[in-house]
Amino acid sequence: MIYMSVTIGTPLQASAFKVLLLGSGELGKEVVISLQRLGVEVHAADRYDHAPAMQVAHYSYTLNMADAEELKQLIQHVKPNLIIPEIEAIATQVLVEIEQQNIATVIPSAKAVNLTMNREGIRRLAAEELGLPTSAYRFADSIESFRAACDDIGYPNFVKPVMSSSGKGQSRIKSFDEVDAAWEYAQTGGRVNQGKVIVESQIDFDFEITLLTVRAKNAETGEIETQYCDPIGHRQDAGDYVESWQPQTMTPAALEESKRIAHKVTAALGGCGIFGVELFVKGDKVWFSEVSPRPHDTGLVTLASQFQSEFELHARAILGLPVNTTRHSVAASAVIYAGVDDSNLSFSGLNLALSNPDTDLRLFGKPEGFKRRRMGVATARAETTDQARELALETASQVSVQQN
Ligand SMILES: Nc1ncnc2c1ncn2[C@@H]1O[C@H](COP(=O)(O)OP(=O)(O)OP(=O)(O)O)[C@@H](O)[C@H]1O
Ligand SMILES: [Mg+2]
Repeated sequence: MIYMSVTIGTPLQASAFKVLLLGSGELGKEVVISLQRLGVEVHAADRYDHAPAMQVAHYSYTLNMADAEELKQLIQHVKPNLIIPEIEAIATQVLVEIEQQNIATVIPSAKAVNLTMNREGIRRLAAEELGLPTSAYRFADSIESFRAACDDIGYPNFVKPVMSSSGKGQSRIKSFDEVDAAWEYAQTGGRVNQGKVIVESQIDFDFEITLLTVRAKNAETGEIETQYCDPIGHRQDAGDYVESWQPQTMTPAALEESKRIAHKVTAALGGCGIFGVELFVKGDKVWFSEVSPRPHDTGLVTLASQFQSEFELHARAILGLPVNTTRHSVAASAVIYAGVDDSNLSFSGLNLALSNPDTDLRLFGKPEGFKRRRMGVATARAETTDQARELALETASQVSVQQN
């Protein structure tokens, strides 16, 4: 007997299987496309109009998702089967209630969303409850406790607002002289002005990876199983990813340890879906850094390297369907930035960028650009990761952004 999973109805009809996406960025856009292909009715929300995922959804909504009342009203209006938080700045308490009252399933779970939106929650879970190796760390919520934390941890160290992502408000402190300025910067860079920061010792790693980890139901038994994509190597600039490649070569022992860590942390978070487990690697040694309970930006490379991209894997897993994490190619991705602060931008040089049959592009369609805003990504396949990286970077550089 094969286990009976989800039944998908017809979009825009009474039988529709509905998904509500909270946050409609470029990663959400690819998730929406994957869900659309499976006949799911998609509702996309964000704080501004015409966000990337809204452009491919059946319905879209502009609201402040950090406002509990606004969020509740939206959920009551849509009545989704699944809610996918795609960003961290959400009134997560509402999601906890929704899950408790069985109104909808939160992907991957309200607990996962709640713990990972705050660096303190996920760090204490990983290091203190699960006993996973991490950098040394302290939390601080005043300039005095921050100075003491920095001296305790030593230099260089990393300071990050507990509620922030993509490197916002983050700095690397090299000596005590820089401590006060780093505190000021952290106070302006956090998502909500909560004031609290984490101070982390610097890990002297050889390279860092994202281990995409999928929790999906076995097609026959319905049991949740854990599967891994090949490790993705990436390069970060100011806390933001600029290029990634797959596979990242590593020792068998380090790969084994990476999977052990990823398994432990994703099992503790629960639910079905893909997780981007960020790890630092030196020789055979691996440290847990952080985890996204959703597709990961560095995983955009899987659009070119895998039979099922991280977005398709996520769509299938959250619907309770089986997944295939097999990689078919060596590939790399490179980010395309706006380079200017302006809206209504145009992109050219595309013919040149796509003249090589092993390259591809995604242009996200963001209505407004700013210098360091990610507007698109180039992917490339090659024999080796070095060649793929070179080709992806070249492809990205061939796309030029113009103001109108
Ligand atoms: N303790 C550390 N030791 C060494 N490098 C670090 C440490 N913490 C952060 N980094 C570097 O800074 C990058 C960004 O850190 P982190 O992932 O914590 O921030 P983030 O704002 O969540 O970024 P993103 O949202 O892009 O994942 C890491 O990928 C790594 O390159
Ligand atoms: Mg990170």
